[in-house]
Amino acid sequence: MSFVPTARILRTATFRMALAYLALFGSSVFVLLGFVYVVTTSVIEQQTTQLLDAEVTALAEQHRLHGLVGLHRAIQRRTGAKPHATGIYLLTDPLGRPLAGNIETWPAAARDENGFLHLSIAIRTGEDEVDLRTALARTFVVDGGYRLLVGRDIEDRLRIQQLIERTMLWGIGLTLLLGLAGGLAMSRPLLRRIDAINRTTRAIIEGDLGRRIEERGSSDELDVLTRNLNAMLARIEELVGAMRQVSDNVAHDLRTPLTRLHNRIEVALMGELGEARSRELLEATLKDADQLLGTFNALLDIAKAESGVAREAFEEVDLGELARDMAELYQPLAEDKGVRFRQEGAGSVRLRAHRHLAAQAIANLLDNAVKYTPRGGLIALALDEGPPVTVTVADTGPGIPPDQREAVLERFVRLDAHRSTPGNGLGLSLVHAVARLHDAGLELADNRPGLRVRLSFPHEPTPA
Ligand SMILES: Nc1ncnc2c1ncn2[C@@H]1O[C@H](COP(=O)(O)OP(=O)(O)OP(=O)(O)O)[C@@H](O)[C@H]1O
Ligand SMILES: [Mg+2]
Repeated sequence: MSFVPTARILRTATFRMALAYLALFGSSVFVLLGFVYVVTTSVIEQQTTQLLDAEVTALAEQHRLHGLVGLHRAIQRRTGAKPHATGIYLLTDPLGRPLAGNIETWPAAARDENGFLHLSIAIRTGEDEVDLRTALARTFVVDGGYRLLVGRDIEDRLRIQQLIERTMLWGIGLTLLLGLAGGLAMSRPLLRRIDAINRTTRAIIEGDLGRRIEERGSSDELDVLTRNLNAMLARIEELVGAMRQVSDNVAHDLRTPLTRLHNRIEVALMGELGEARSRELLEATLKDADQLLGTFNALLDIAKAESGVAREAFEEVDLGELARDMAELYQPLAEDKGVRFRQEGAGSVRLRAHRHLAAQAIANLLDNAVKYTPRGGLIALALDEGPPVTVTVADTGPGIPPDQREAVLERFVRLDAHRSTPGNGLGLSLVHAVARLHDAGLELADNRPGLRVRLSFPHEPTPA
C-alpha cells in the first residue's frame, strides 16, 4: 500500500466531487436549520406578545372597573405572591415614584417600531439576590400622570433562541467536517487504484508491453475497467507480437530472392557472358521478381481480407461457377503430375461473397493439393449447398499432423517436410483470413490418407 499525500488528494476529481456534494448538502442543511430557526423564534415571539397583550387587556379592565385603586390592587396581586414571575409591572405616580410592581425604577429604553421597549432589568429573586434579565414591555399613561409598565421576561426565550443558534452552528460545522473527512477517506483508496493504473500504463509506454494492472476481483466498476484494460493490453501485445513476427518473416523471406536478384544483375552487368547466357539470366531474374510480386500480392490480399474493408465489395457470387473455373485451372496441373482430379456436388449456389478473395482461397487450397499430393493420388473438389454451404478440397497426400493444423494457418509457416518445395507459407493464411471475412468456418481434417479442408459459409444461399 502506497502513501498518498493529502495535497494530491485535494486535487483529485473524486475529492472535488465530494466537495461539490458537500457544498450542496451543507447548504441544504443550512437552509433547513434556518427555516426551523425562523419558524421557532417567530412562534415564541408571537406567544410573548400575545401574552403581553392579554395582560394589558386584563389590567385595563381592572382600571375601567375599579380605577387606579383597582389597578394598584391587581398589580400587587400579580407581584406579591411570586416576586420573580415572568410578568413585569410598574405603576408610578406623576412624580415618577413607584407605587406598585416588581421593578424599582422606570427604565430608560427607546421603543422599537412595534411600540415595545426592550429592557434589561434587575429582578429581585430573593433577599439580596438580583437577576439581570431581558424583557419586552409596553407602557401606558393612566389618568393624571400615573404611568404603567407591563412587560414580560423574555430571557428564557432568548436562551432557547441562542440554543437553536448554537445547535445550528454545530450542525453545520459537523456536517462540513464529516463531509470533508468522508471526501478524503473516499478519495484515498480510489486515488491509490488510479495510481496503480497510471504506473502500469507508464511502464507500458516505456516499452514493457507485458505489464498488467493488478485486479482486485471485487467486480466494482474500477475492477471491470481494469479487466477491460488488461484484455485490451493483452490484445495489443498479441497484435504487436504478430506484426513483429510478420515483419521479421517478410524481411527474412524476401532477403533470399532479393539477394539472388542482386547477384544475377551484377553478373549480367559484368558483360562477359554470351547473349544466350545473359538471356537465361534475365529470365531467371524475371522469375525471381515474379515470385517477389506474388509474395507481396499474397500479403496484400491477406491484409485486405483481414481489414474487413473488403466487405464493401461483397456481391452475389455463384460458388458453383467459381469452383468450375478453379477446377479448369488446376485439373490440367494435377493430371500433368499424374494425380486424378474430381469435381463433385452442386452446379450452382449463389451467395454474397468477395469474388476475387473467395476464388483466391479455393485456388490456394487446390494449389496445395496439387503441390503436396504425390503421383497416383486423387484430388476432390466438392460443393454442397447445405445448409451450410460448404466447399471441400480433399487430397490423398501426406496430410498435416493434428498438432500442426492451427500453426499452418499463420503467415509464413511451412511444415519442415515441405521446405524444399517452392512456396511462402502464405496460402493457408489467406484462406484463413477469407474464411473470417465471410464469417465462414474453416476446418482442416484427416482424409485418411491426406488432407481435407472444409470451408462452411453460414449464409443462406440466395435463390437462383
Ligand atoms: N494439402 C496439403 N497436404 C499436406 N500439407 C499441406 C497441404 N496444404 C498445406 N500443407 C502444409 O501447410 C503449409 C502451409 O501451407 P500454405 O499454403 O500456407 O503455404 P505453402 O503452400 O507452403 O506456400 P504458398 O501457398 O504461400 O505458396 C505447407 O508448407 C505444407 O507444409
Ligand atoms: Mg500453399
